[in-house]
Amino acid sequence: MKHYHILFVCLGNICRSPMAECVLRHLASEAGVGQRIIVESAGTSGWHDGENMHAGTRKILTKHGISHLGFTSSKVKSSDIEHFDFIIAMDDSNLNDLERLFGKHPDKLFKLTDLIPESGYSSVPDPWYTGDFAETFRLVEAGSSALLKKLELV
Ligand code: 4NP
Repeated sequence: MKHYHILFVCLGNICRSPMAECVLRHLASEAGVGQRIIVESAGTSGWHDGENMHAGTRKILTKHGISHLGFTSSKVKSSDIEHFDFIIAMDDSNLNDLERLFGKHPDKLFKLTDLIPESGYSSVPDPWYTGDFAETFRLVEAGSSALLKKLELV
C-alpha cells in the first residue's frame, strides 16, 4: 500500500507548519490511516532551530485534543525535494523561497490554500503577526482534511 511523506513549510517553523503537522497526523490517525502517512514540518528561515513550537500553537492544539509532543523546529534541507512526496507551503513567500531552492514542481510543491479554494484565502495567515491562532487552526484543519481526500485516504 502506498505511503506518503508530507512536509509542511512556513517561515519560522514554530506557528503554522507545526500546527499543520500535528493536525494532519491527528486527522489521519482518527481516520484509521495514520500508518499511511509520515508528516513533518520545517521553516525556510532556520531562525528558531532547536526550539519548541509557539505557546499559542501548543495551546490551540491542546484545546482541540491534539498532541504537540516531540516537536523541534528545523530548517528546510536541500534533500527534502527528493525525500517528500508533497511539500506544502503556507504563503507565497514560502512558496517562492522553496521554488528558488528546488525549482517549480507544481504537483509536489504548492500552497495549502490551493487545496481549499472555497475558503477564499490564498495563504494561511501567520498568527506570529495576527495573534489569531483560531483562524489559522480553521484553515489548517480544512486544508489537512482536503489533503487526506486528495490522497484518497478518506
Ligand atoms: P511561522 O510564524 O512562519 O508560522 O512559524 C513566524 C514565526 C516566527 C517569526 C515569523 C513568523 N519570526 O520572525 O521569528
